[in-house]
Amino acid sequence: MEHRCATIERCDYLVIGSGIAGLYFALEAAEHGTVVILTKRDAAQSSTWHAQGGIAAVLDPQDSYEAHIRDTLRVGVGLCDVAAVTAAVTEGPDCVRDLAARFSVVFDQKNGGFDLGREGGHGCRRVAHAHDMTGREVASKLLDAVHDHPRITLMEDCMAVDLLTAAKYGGPNACFGAFVLDRHSGRIGTLLARATILATGGTGKVYLYTSNPDTASGDGIAMAYRVGASVANLEFIQFHPTCLYHPEARSFLISEALRGEGGKLRLADGTRFMPSYHDMAELAPRDVVARAIDQELKRTGDDCVYLDMTALDAEFLRERFPNIYKTCLSFGIDLTCDPIPVVPAAHYSCGGVKTDLVGRTDVQNLFAIGEVACTGLHGACRLASNSLLEGLVFAKRTASVVKDLEEVEPPGLVQWGFEGAADSDEAVVVTHNWDEIRRFMWNYVGIVRTTKRLERARRRIETVREEIRDYYWNFKITADLLELRNLALTAHLIILSAMARPESRGLHFMLDYPETMDWFAKDTVLRRGSGPPA
Ligand code: SIN
Repeated sequence: MEHRCATIERCDYLVIGSGIAGLYFALEAAEHGTVVILTKRDAAQSSTWHAQGGIAAVLDPQDSYEAHIRDTLRVGVGLCDVAAVTAAVTEGPDCVRDLAARFSVVFDQKNGGFDLGREGGHGCRRVAHAHDMTGREVASKLLDAVHDHPRITLMEDCMAVDLLTAAKYGGPNACFGAFVLDRHSGRIGTLLARATILATGGTGKVYLYTSNPDTASGDGIAMAYRVGASVANLEFIQFHPTCLYHPEARSFLISEALRGEGGKLRLADGTRFMPSYHDMAELAPRDVVARAIDQELKRTGDDCVYLDMTALDAEFLRERFPNIYKTCLSFGIDLTCDPIPVVPAAHYSCGGVKTDLVGRTDVQNLFAIGEVACTGLHGACRLASNSLLEGLVFAKRTASVVKDLEEVEPPGLVQWGFEGAADSDEAVVVTHNWDEIRRFMWNYVGIVRTTKRLERARRRIETVREEIRDYYWNFKITADLLELRNLALTAHLIILSAMARPESRGLHFMLDYPETMDWFAKDTVLRRGSGPPA
């Protein structure tokens, strides 16, 4: 069912975001209530849609839960929550089978079972996939089911402005829905819900170069923080080591699965460099590979390194990686005989809105699932292909508890009150600030950080946010302005989190604090009103 946003509407479960976590939650929760899925563009514009590698799960009798748990904990460098890891690993395989059985998701098969791929940090082949378009296969099948479901309403081109909490009206800190901007009419309506579920995805657009779609502007983190939810571990931004280096490719992802099948990273002169950085060479954890590439680029002054697949059978490569093959070819690169130029780009936020093991945040009736959440699964660095896994497992867990929630009564008529603001005559403010943030975040809060660079970034973001605040309260709200406001707050929180960790661990590498310190083996938690102001 599709729909536009009227003035005031009500549902049982309001899901914000249409990636794997939001869709899977909606389909589970619709068993016991009405669901509205809010998505700010069309529903297919999610990071899930672009996910290539697959879903890590113990599906091979030779593999074991212990081994998957061990790999996840090792890559997470002391910050994973063992209970979250155990839940994801032990409940994941049934979710993968459920996708195939209930929603007809087609995974590649081999010898009567799953054809499992290998990726960095995994000790064995463990990744269920649909060629190199796993996310698209999963999301499209879940969306088909959502469209057919009589109790789910999909609202496209509708963006949450802010969460509604009773605390704003003198009550407890409990969420009862959101203000919603309809991008077509420009009107802001009210959506009331028994439970509000953030499934807004990641923060990649905070950085100049990212594998993420344009929608990844940190909306969920920013909205949750504004209503007093704790956010955790935002300094751990994962940079994917291999995105296509081409002026028109917009950081198209070159899946780690290529290295899993034997791809080698080389410098322009053909030299392999990963064996001198880690004993797993090209299959080392992602933070190690991204940092090694960064270091080699700085040392040589080159613009990119190369992923060499040419030793593999050409027919196999075309069959296993049809989308990557076709995309590279469209840029004049035949990966069966040409090395692929690659660079790292921002890919995944390991931190997010802090939750327990059933998606609860510390704001009553507000939940977070998928990339926007920090469940404790990823710690200081996410193991490859554990993200779709997390989306499924924690969506299902969250759906199992929301039906028992007590409703928070809205305090009277809740309506947006700023209809009279003027149209902006300086849209350039939005684009300029957006570009500026993404550039200084890339330069100062990127793969390698220093205290001085973080300080510079903090000063810049404070100035930019002041300008945005001024603009926000004086002009009519647009989706671009909302995204900029969220992006700026998220950037600020990433900077503050990074400054709170004077050590190096996993994805957070400080040149002036290169050691990992035992006493920092704890989460970085920020909450509005406690700690440095953001
Ligand atoms: C990839 O295919 O390399 C991405 C998988 C992931 O981010 O886990």
